[in-house]
Amino acid sequence: MKLKDLFAQAITYGMEADVRSKADLQKKLKKYSDKAKKLDTKDKKFFDEERTWNPYSDSRIINGTGNEDVTRLMVGIDIETPEVLLADRLREKGEKIDCLFIHHPEGRALADLEKVMPLQVDVLASVGVPVNHSEAQLKPRMDRIWRAIHADNLFRTERAAELLGIPAFCCHTPTDNLVWRFIEKEICSKNFDCLADILDALLKIPEYEYYAKKGNPPIIVNGTPDSRPGKIVATEFTGGTNGPEEQLIEQSKAGVGTILSMHVTEKTWEEAKKHHVNMIQCSHMASDAIGINLLLDKLTKHEKKLDVLETSGFIRVKRK
Ligand SMILES: [Fe+2]
Ligand SMILES: [Fe+2]
Repeated sequence: MKLKDLFAQAITYGMEADVRSKADLQKKLKKYSDKAKKLDTKDKKFFDEERTWNPYSDSRIINGTGNEDVTRLMVGIDIETPEVLLADRLREKGEKIDCLFIHHPEGRALADLEKVMPLQVDVLASVGVPVNHSEAQLKPRMDRIWRAIHADNLFRTERAAELLGIPAFCCHTPTDNLVWRFIEKEICSKNFDCLADILDALLKIPEYEYYAKKGNPPIIVNGTPDSRPGKIVATEFTGGTNGPEEQLIEQSKAGVGTILSMHVTEKTWEEAKKHHVNMIQCSHMASDAIGINLLLDKLTKHEKKLDVLETSGFIRVKRK
């Protein structure tokens, strides 16, 4: 399968799993495309064509033309220059690696990370937080992320891949959408007597079990094993990166009892204690791996020979 077709499929599956409707996403894409028509030549230079069809600014091909044939992916949650060198070393030793599948964004996908964050407003709306509240609270946090990332050395991985001739793409929010939906269905929609029972249910999921055996299990960061969960949500599984701590207060007001998260900031944790919201920190790498696995299962339908090499925190678990 051509890299560009594989990547386009990944975006389609990300959109299918998105909390927003397909029509809503298409409307946003059209708005951006329409903008291009009004730009003068000076601004046209900076127009990002990618945004006319792919709503995920943290996901794109960062090296390659897209016409490369891909059957074997080296998949990693964080792939930076060391992992690119690893790929090159492995290729030298005879390992087939057609392309790098990077989860946490690099290059332009990282430069534009904050632009996926408005998705958080819709995820929060789905648990009862008014959009005007979360939107107003999100904006300063998005600005902070933009300024912080702006100073980074953004294109090191991309350049390493280019020099070593290894095609690479980043796929972040599409797979985070998939794991968000999965946790919603497997955990949030079910009834549990206490937080300990949620941990038990999480540990039945192979990726969490694997990580738990390695000493990185899902943990209760606020609440006790006996605490009653109340309304369970997975509002911190997708949306680019952590939102502001005010989101926790809003969720508490909206009646949320327990938040499942991949990573909890200290400030959010402080607010959780103050507002009596239980928090379970699910293993970050295991959670990201679930999303990637769900996508790979779907991509396999299009490329029967699709195969992966697991690196950098990723473990392959196939589901029927
Ligand atoms: Fe992720
Ligand atoms: Fe992550």
